[in-house]
Amino acid sequence: MSKIKLKRAARIILVGAPGVGKGTQAERLMNRFPQLSAVSSGDLLRDNVHNKTPLGLEAEGAMKAGNLVPDDMILRLILDALKAKRWVSTTSSIDDPTPATPSSSPSASFILDGFPRTSVQACKLDSIIPVNLVVSLITPVEIILGRIAGRWVHAPSGRVYNTTFNPPKVAGKDDLTGESLTKRADDDEETWRQRLKKFDETSEPLLEHYEKKGLLWTVKGNSSNEISPQLYTEFEDRFCNPEF
Ligand SMILES: *[C@@H]1O[C@H](CO)[C@@H](O)[C@H](O)[C@H]1NC(C)=O
Ligand SMILES: *[C@@H]1O[C@H](CO)[C@@H](O)[C@H](O)[C@H]1NC(C)=O
Repeated sequence: MSKIKLKRAARIILVGAPGVGKGTQAERLMNRFPQLSAVSSGDLLRDNVHNKTPLGLEAEGAMKAGNLVPDDMILRLILDALKAKRWVSTTSSIDDPTPATPSSSPSASFILDGFPRTSVQACKLDSIIPVNLVVSLITPVEIILGRIAGRWVHAPSGRVYNTTFNPPKVAGKDDLTGESLTKRADDDEETWRQRLKKFDETSEPLLEHYEKKGLLWTVKGNSSNEISPQLYTEFEDRFCNPEF
């Protein structure tokens, strides 16, 4: 696949229900547009805890006390990571009421993963570093449920079967070992419906927030392969085309 150069910095967020293939789209975008990289709040948190940075120790303290890591701490982690790359001014601070002016260099492009999840977090992020595109990925519920229902794994090896496209030779058995296939814990319909409900509740105001700012773009598809080409086209129009 051809690699495509960006003409301006992309600072994007992907929003999608569990099972919609957000990770797949993020990976494909980064492959096609190599200047784009992932900034993951979860990874930053893990790295900082692991490296025992002051923020990491603070966050670990919160988690050990059974609390969520406060939004401001996550924002600081993100801001510090962007400063370290010099994608925002090194004097930016989350206590500064004026947002940092991010680098417009195409290499300062990223997909922000894991944050924000709520409109409150989005407001806070706006005052730190403005994103310039929010993509809402939509796949019909019945399609995602069908995928979940058809997916079986051989837990010891990690081999995944798909009852429609890649069924095991003997139903319910691993091809190589003959051992029984099982469902992954997160492939349980009830669990997934609960996660979806939670996602819907928080993502609705989040998407509204970005809609109002004119940053929201929605893409629909029944599979990742249906979504990707639409996403590429939109992305190229916005970030690779000198006239946009
Ligand atoms: C099986 O794989 C196909 C093609 O990758 C995909 O469209 C479908 O959703 C998958 N189904 C299941 C049950 O995983
Ligand atoms: C996607 O799935 C829905 C049913 O859930 C179907 O009506 C529609 O035709 C499908 N779209 C495509 C492009 O296959």
